Amino acid sequence: MKKILITGGAGYIGSHTAVELVKAGFEPIIIDDLSNSDIQVLDRLEEITGKKLAFYKGDCSDRSLLDQIYAEHQITGIIHFAAFKAVGESTSLPLKYYQNNLMSLLAILDFMKSKDIKDLVFSSSCTVYGQPAQLPVTEETPRQDAESPYGNTKKICEDILVDLVKSKAGIRVISLRYFNPIGAHPTAKIGELPIGTPANLVPFVTQTAAGIREKLTVFGDDYDTVDGSCVRDFIHVMDLADAHVKALSFLGKQTDDFYDVFNVGTGNGNTVLEVLRTFEKVNDVKVNFEIGQRRQGDVVKIWADTKKINSVLNWYPNYSLEDSLRDSWNWQKTL
Ligand code: UD1
Repeated sequence: MKKILITGGAGYIGSHTAVELVKAGFEPIIIDDLSNSDIQVLDRLEEITGKKLAFYKGDCSDRSLLDQIYAEHQITGIIHFAAFKAVGESTSLPLKYYQNNLMSLLAILDFMKSKDIKDLVFSSSCTVYGQPAQLPVTEETPRQDAESPYGNTKKICEDILVDLVKSKAGIRVISLRYFNPIGAHPTAKIGELPIGTPANLVPFVTQTAAGIREKLTVFGDDYDTVDGSCVRDFIHVMDLADAHVKALSFLGKQTDDFYDVFNVGTGNGNTVLEVLRTFEKVNDVKVNFEIGQRRQGDVVKIWADTKKINSVLNWYPNYSLEDSLRDSWNWQKTL
């Protein structure tokens, strides 16, 4: 059975991917420093998968820990999720983001080289497209200057991977550019666990519906969109998890020195107000909200062209926006 190291495997996307890897016959090995996740996730993963997953608490740039993991599990591939991702914080603490997000990737790559580990799936983001001139965005849509240090770390990491593969380092890499992941495992045993006030839309919606937040502010209703609020491509986290499994299986069939990048979105754009209305309707619950100022740095509208991931990885989303918002709410209710 192929052993796959998942950095950040106790986190939101990492934990759902661990479930899908087990289902597909891989053995996930998790490393997580628990800086933005909870140890309880491990028990939940065992409940869902029926397997006790190997877990190491620590930093994925800790080389002695990585060497120890390799000695205990001869891993053949890595999915590198571990990174800081708070856009706002990255503008006030840029070095924290450059230090963590770049150094951890470099450490992982050096480790791969020393152990001849071939396959890597890297978590990138649609943030690399900036404010796109044409929609939907394809993988060929030019990347633009990043709006934040966080976004810039994703661009730089992609560049590092391109250069390394060009150097004939003998590895195979896929960068997945995530659109907006929402939802939770249908059992509601795992989901997103925002620390403090959520910056992202859907966790703020579910916390407002639950009465934890008094009201949600919709950041602007005067954009050039159908109802004036911003447009995003919201993708169920289980579909996103499945894309990682497909990417890993695909890498296994490629020759050395392979690099490619895929959008992972549904191909549909929905506005913030549509999300609110759909959430209220499918869950039969009210969300107190007001219209506020535009949020600085927001992209007006973006959604994915998914032809490439559909045809090359044979990946298609299985969950609708309704499913996603129902699962987000079911998860919130367990908290
Ligand atoms: C943001 C980042 C993106 C990053 C992702 C990681 C920006 C421009 N983009 O995505 O690079 O990968 O987070 O988490 O910061 N909204 C409200 N009220 C709220 C919260 C959000 O109206 O309380 C709106 C936003 O204005 C936006 C939409 O909801 O239009 C989605 O926001 P969010 O969930 O923060 O995601 P992104 O901004 O798309």
